[in-house]
Parts: sequence; structure tokens; C-alpha cells
Amino acid sequence: MGGHVRPLRECLDVIAAEIAGSAERPRREAERMLMEYLERDGLWLITHQDEPLSCDERLWEWVARRKAHEPLEYIFNRVSFYSQLFYVAPGALIPRPETELLIDRVLEAVERDGSFTLCEVGVGSGAVSVTLALHLEHATMIGVDISEDALGVAAKNVADFGLESRIDLRKSDLLENVPETIDVLVSNPPYVAAGAALERNLNYEPDLALFGGVTGMDIIVRLIDAVAERQIPLFCCEMGYDQREGVSAIVPEGYGVEFYKDLAGLDRGFVMTRKDDI
Ligand SMILES: C[S@@+](CC[C@H](N)C(=O)[O-])C[C@H]1O[C@@H](n2cnc3c(N)ncnc32)[C@H](O)[C@@H]1O
Repeated sequence: MGGHVRPLRECLDVIAAEIAGSAERPRREAERMLMEYLERDGLWLITHQDEPLSCDERLWEWVARRKAHEPLEYIFNRVSFYSQLFYVAPGALIPRPETELLIDRVLEAVERDGSFTLCEVGVGSGAVSVTLALHLEHATMIGVDISEDALGVAAKNVADFGLESRIDLRKSDLLENVPETIDVLVSNPPYVAAGAALERNLNYEPDLALFGGVTGMDIIVRLIDAVAERQIPLFCCEMGYDQREGVSAIVPEGYGVEFYKDLAGLDRGFVMTRKDDI
């Protein structure tokens, strides 16, 4: 591949062919790589297909990493979530588009200008807590994670958005280190069943962020127990497409539950509400 000069269109062809075995949309990803490498936008790329390019090792190293199934988000340390760009690095899950639906459910369920305490369990990159803090200006926010690496990534995002005074990040196994009264609990917990066959791209993401015990329900069950024990009025949670029945079976006394689907029409999460508060 080397550093010799060739037209941009040819570079795109070469990159797309190289990553065809690991990328779902090789052409689109090849374009993203060149946009990043050249610091140009998509329009420039389309209108400069004959531009002679000499690509150095930096680009070919990205190609090699992508060929080895590393997600582009880790290669570029960047991910788009709810129309904002966030820093992301191995150690924190790459926030997924379906988790934007969890944000929508929370924003629908609360008073936007209310002063309440919201706790997110499993902050990961911090994208969910930062997004919620930007939309809920008067909420007090606590974000916990059991992983120091994830908390490091979250701290960078919280600082990048200037939210250090609004989001209190702390290490905690679920709510163990959260003695405060919680009004709203939010979580996108690990919910994949142990041993499930995963795409190779997922090998780069932390096991702690993905796996929720034998059935995938371990953390969800513990969270629902905590909701009942602490009588938390509202719990918004993402879950696996096949966990509706499991969740329905353990709705605590005095609570109601509504499930929501993702864009593919699969069950993806639920909103659990204390009936007194409806
Ligand atoms: C699926 S990721 C979600 C990350 C982020 N909130 C998002 O939606 O992109 C789950 C997160 O839960 C954390 N986690 C796993 N077990 C935990 C526990 N017992 N207590 C607190 N956090 C936990 C993981 O470290 C991981 O960051």
C-alpha cells in the first residue's frame, strides 16, 4: 500500500477492499477514514476524486487496526451520540444509537425544569449522563460505575462539556456508594448473556460493560431490587430484546412498567414507575 501517490478515488478503493472483511459498510468507512486523515468533509471528498494523494503510515495503521476489527470510534477516539461528539476509548463502551431512545424516555417521564436527583448506574463514557445534564438544567446528577477505566473516560467528557459542578462521578457497585435519596434511576446495564456469540468488533469493548451473568439479567435484577428497597419513584432502563418476560415477572409490588422498542422493532427497554407517583 505504501506512500506512493495515487488519485483519491483509488485510495478509497484500496482502503475499502482492505477493510471489507471487518466493516459492514467498507466504502463509507473508507470515506470516513480519508475525511479524518485529510481533515476534509464529505463534499470535498466527492469533488476531489482525482486529487493525487500520498498517504503515510498513520493512515495505513488505522486501516490495519480496522482490518483487525477495532471499531472506528476507538481508532478516532470519538463517537456521536444524541447530536454531540464525545471522547471514547477502550475501557468504556461505545455509546449505541439505540441508547438515544433511553434518553428520550427519561426526558418524556420527568419535568424538564424540575429539581430532582438523577442517578445513572454504569456511566461508561458518560455520554448518557452528560446528555441528560444538558437537557435537565436543574437536576442534581450522580453517575457511578464499577470500572475505574470507564470513570476516567466519563471524567474527560464531563470536563469537556464543563459539567464538573453538575455531575458527581463516583466508583460504586450499583448504588452501594450512593446514600442520597434518588428520584430518578437511569441505566443501560450490561445485559448480554455470558457465553453469547458476539461479533468480533465487540471484542474490543470491556466485558464488564457487556455481560450480565448467565441469562444476562443479573444486573437488571439487582437494580430492580434496589428500586423496590429504596422506593425509587422512576427507573428507566435499557435491556436485551429477549428480556421483557424476565422483567415483567419481577415488577415490584406498587410499581407499573411500560416497555419500549428500538428502531428495529425489538424490545429494548422499560420505564418502571411507582404507582403512587403516577
Ligand atoms: C452497557 S455499559 C453502558 C455505558 C454507558 N452508560 C452507555 O450507555 O454507553 C454498562 C456499564 O455498567 C458498568 N457496570 C457493570 N457492572 C456494574 C456494577 N455492578 N456497578 C456499577 N457499574 C457497573 C460497566 O463498567 C459499564 O460501564
